Amino acid sequence: MLQNIDRFLEEARRFNASTSEEIEQFRIKYLGKKGLLSDLFKSFKEVPVEQKKEVGQKINQLKQFITEKVEELMSTISDDVAGDNSADLTLPGPPLQLGARHPISIVRNQIIEIFGRLGYTISEGPEIEDDWHVFSALNFPPEHPARDMQDTFFIEKDPDILLRTHTSSVQVRVMEKEQPPIRTISPGRVFRNEAISARAHCIFHQVEGLYIDDNVSFADLKQTLLYFAREMFGKKVEIRLRPSYFPFTEPSAEMDISCQICGGKGCNVCKYTGWLEILGCGMVDPNVLEFNHIDSKKYTGLAFGMGIERVAMLKYQVRDLRLYFENDIRFLKQFQAAY
Ligand code: PHE
Repeated sequence: MLQNIDRFLEEARRFNASTSEEIEQFRIKYLGKKGLLSDLFKSFKEVPVEQKKEVGQKINQLKQFITEKVEELMSTISDDVAGDNSADLTLPGPPLQLGARHPISIVRNQIIEIFGRLGYTISEGPEIEDDWHVFSALNFPPEHPARDMQDTFFIEKDPDILLRTHTSSVQVRVMEKEQPPIRTISPGRVFRNEAISARAHCIFHQVEGLYIDDNVSFADLKQTLLYFAREMFGKKVEIRLRPSYFPFTEPSAEMDISCQICGGKGCNVCKYTGWLEILGCGMVDPNVLEFNHIDSKKYTGLAFGMGIERVAMLKYQVRDLRLYFENDIRFLKQFQAAY
């Protein structure tokens, strides 16, 4: 019996395991109900009295050794990696969180792409501007309300310096440098002194367009804008031009598109008119051409300007402008696009 115990001890010493299952089998073999130790304890009764002490000690020694060995083996094995067969090592890793483009960028890029197909280049200019480029060169009379502190952010020390209220100022800069043909759009950030609400913000984005050449007509303006509306909102969209006023265009108009939500039948978004206003446009006022040293007898031009937030609101049916500025990931990740 003593020899048997020594043999078990020797075997246990040499045992090694790489999975928790193997360790469990090892444990059951020795310590389980029908295990070797239980057998040894059973046969302990037959051990002659004079050997009982020595055999008893050996059995206890073996039991302790096995118990410690099981603990030791368990601690060297990480169940997740090697020990647990339920871990499927062929499964793909957890997905990486990918960002999405901001809806304003998606729509801006799409507008740029649509006008790019019509041959419009992109021009950019400063956000901090002077009175000349934002107002005077665009034929704003001195008493025009946009020049009021209520509408425009001025620099206190110098009322000639202001934050641009539209990107038409970039087009003035283009006209200063280039002679027709000019065909360009200017996307960018603009600033107006307005209280922030669901429908207005003091910072927003615009794309304004300018096309000056021989014989540019109102028909060109209408066709250009119809093309844009169809590319942006789908082939079924209809447009409507309403007479309006801007200091830098004559005649001037505002363009509506047929309501994308009710299809023109009338709903609360279009206030039951079937139409949604989307941009301002017109034929460049000859004064503006002359201010910028372009011969108004030789050339005519068309111009238009739209708010990117507004186009995005209509395209994605976003009801509150403030969502664009909060950068809440739950809002942002809804917009996946090829742009
Ligand atoms: N600049 C005008 C605005 O900011 C838009 C516009 C551009 C209107 C060109 C007519 C022609 O609202």
